Amino acid sequence: MSFDLPILEQLIHLKLSRMGPRGERRFHHCHSVAKKMLELAHHHELKLDDDVIMLTGLIHDYAKYTTMEEFRRLALKYPEINEHLEAPMKTLHALCGPYVIMEELGITDEAILRAVAYHTTGHPVMDDLGELVFLSDFTEENRVGEIHAHIRTLSEQSIKKAVAWILHDTLEYINQLKQPLHPLTVEAYVAYQQYL
Ligand SMILES: [Fe+2]
Ligand SMILES: [Fe+2]
Repeated sequence: MSFDLPILEQLIHLKLSRMGPRGERRFHHCHSVAKKMLELAHHHELKLDDDVIMLTGLIHDYAKYTTMEEFRRLALKYPEINEHLEAPMKTLHALCGPYVIMEELGITDEAILRAVAYHTTGHPVMDDLGELVFLSDFTEENRVGEIHAHIRTLSEQSIKKAVAWILHDTLEYINQLKQPLHPLTVEAYVAYQQYL
């Protein structure tokens, strides 16, 4: 897939900056995620295109401020969205992100869209790009705290191990809060626990 990264970056910035300072902070976060993804990909010598990595990081939260009303409108065109509409907004911007991205930016690259879709819940089957964005969203430089620092160190040893620990800690944290777990996170944990 060929694309013009500087133009897409401007469009992503335009979209997020409409939300004011919190949108600007979000764009900054997306930049840090992209930077972390590149750093990890080079460190582990992954065979991925730098521009694809950069775009995936920049675009992963593109649907962060999409409203429920907009998701419902999109579901008229893409009925498969309906199965996600019960999920919390925190998860919805990821699972439904690909549809917003396809509609507004015309990006159809399957690997990029899959990486966006599962960046919050995780998925039992993630490729390098999917693991990179899932991991970097948790470990980019603005994420502070013991858990983030621990996973950041682990990610230098093994991407899969770090992903497994994020899933492990997420499950524990959500269980403590007695909140419902997304089935994909449980399935992802089952698939990745072998790397702990
Ligand atoms: Fe997100
Ligand atoms: Fe994010």
